[in-house]
Amino acid sequence: MNISIIGTGYVGLVTGACLASQGNNVLCCDLDSAKISDLQKGILPIYEPGLPELVTRLTDSGNLSFTCEMSETVRHSTVLFITVNTPTLENNICDLGNVLEVIKGIADHMASYKIIVHKSTVPVGTGRKAGDILKALLAEQGKDLEFDMVSNPEFLREGSAVNDFLSPERIVIGTACEKAAAFMMEIYKKQRRNGVPMLLTGLETAEMIKYASNAFLAMKISYINEIANICELCGADAVEVAIGMGLDKRIGCKFLSAGPGFGGSCFPKDLRALSGLGKSYGYDTGLIDCITETNRRQKRRMVQKIAAAVGSLKDSTITFLGISFKPDTDDIRESPSLAIIRDILDKNARIRIYDPKALDNLKRQFPGLPVTYCDNAYTACEGSDCVVLATEWNEFACLDFKRLKSIVSKPVFLDLRNVYSPEEVKAYGFHYEGVGRK
Ligand code: UDX
Repeated sequence: MNISIIGTGYVGLVTGACLASQGNNVLCCDLDSAKISDLQKGILPIYEPGLPELVTRLTDSGNLSFTCEMSETVRHSTVLFITVNTPTLENNICDLGNVLEVIKGIADHMASYKIIVHKSTVPVGTGRKAGDILKALLAEQGKDLEFDMVSNPEFLREGSAVNDFLSPERIVIGTACEKAAAFMMEIYKKQRRNGVPMLLTGLETAEMIKYASNAFLAMKISYINEIANICELCGADAVEVAIGMGLDKRIGCKFLSAGPGFGGSCFPKDLRALSGLGKSYGYDTGLIDCITETNRRQKRRMVQKIAAAVGSLKDSTITFLGISFKPDTDDIRESPSLAIIRDILDKNARIRIYDPKALDNLKRQFPGLPVTYCDNAYTACEGSDCVVLATEWNEFACLDFKRLKSIVSKPVFLDLRNVYSPEEVKAYGFHYEGVGRK
C-alpha cells in the first residue's frame, strides 16, 4: 500500500520507516529541505537505536523516500499520516499551527478521497476540528471531495521506538467511518496477525486515550518519587517497596523506579496540554497539576541532596554522568539533569559532564553553558567532590569504584537512578545516597 507521512520528526520518521519495513511504499514529506536532503543521504536528525539501519535499507529498496513537495505527497497515497510537532505554549494550550498548515496543504493539493490520520499527540477534539476546517477549505476551492479523519495515537518510547511500533501493546484507532477503519486494519495487518489488540473507538476517545495514558504513567513516577522521599525519612527502601507493590497485578511493576523526576518531550508537554484542556472547559485539573508540581519539586530536591552531600556547592566540583532525559537517546528535552545542573551553576559550583550520546545536543542547544565536557566517565570524575549518576546508561552500571576512588577529590556518589545497591558502593569507601534508599 502507498502511504504518505507528513512531518519527519521523531514520530514521523519511526512510523514511515516501520511501515516501509512492512512492505508499504512510504513517502515522507517535510518542509525542512535541509532535513530532507540529509535523510535522502541516510543522515538522521535524531539518535534512535535501529532506525538508521532501517532507513538506509528501506531507502535502498525503494520502499521509503523523502520529499519537500506537498503536492506529490498528497497524490502519493489515500492515507495521509500527520506527524508534525504539536508543542504546548506557555498558557498550556497546545499549538496546532503545524497541524493546520498541513490541513491547508492537503486542501490545496487534494483531488480524490483521502483518509487523514492524526498520529501526533493532539488535544481532544482536534481531529473533528481539523475535519471541519478541511471541509471549509475544500468548499472555498469548489472541490466536492470526500475524506475521513482518523486518530491513531502513537505510544512510542524514545530508545525503543522501532520495537514499540512493530510490536506495540495495543493499537488504538479512532474514527466514525468503517471504510477508514478498514484501511487502518490493513495497514496494521502484521501487528494484528501477531496478536496485537486493536481498539476501534471514536475520534475524541482515541485522542483522550493517549493523554490519559501518558498522564497516568507520569503519575506513577511522581507517586513513587513521593513514596521514595518518605522512605528516606523513615528508613524504608523505595526500590524494594516498588518490588513489593508491583507484585500486585493491579499496580504492575513498571514505571515505579524512583529518580530525579521525569523529562522528555512527552510527559511534561502532555500534562500541560491535558491541564489546559480541562481548564478550557472550566474544570480544575487538581490531580493532573499535582503530577507536574511533584515532578518540579523532585528536581529541586535533588539539588538539596547534592548540596547536603558536599557541604557547600560554592566552588565544589560536581560530576554528572548522564544528561539525556533517559538512556539510549540523545534527547535532552526537559531532562531532569539539565534542570539540576542549571540550579547548581547558580550556586557557583563547577560542573563536569559526560553522556554517551547527548553532549552534542547540549553544546548546540546551550552553547554558553559554563560546564566542562568530558569524553568518558572517569575523566568526568577527576577531582570531583560529588559524582551524580543522573541517567542510567548501561555503561554507568559497571563503574570501577576502586579507580574512581583514586581520581575523585571526595568519595561521594549520588545514584539518582538507584542503579547500585548502597552496600556495593560503600564497600569502596564512598558516601552513597540513592533516591529512597541510603
Ligand atoms: C513516554 C511514554 O512511555 C510513551 O508511551 C509515549 O508514547 C511517549 O512518552 P518517553 O517519554 O520516550 O515515552 O520515555 P519513558 O520511557 O516513558 O520515560 C519518560 C521519563 O520518565 C524519563 O525521564 C524516565 O527517566 C522517567 N521514568 C520512567 C522514571 O523516572 N521512572 C520510571 O519508572 C520510568
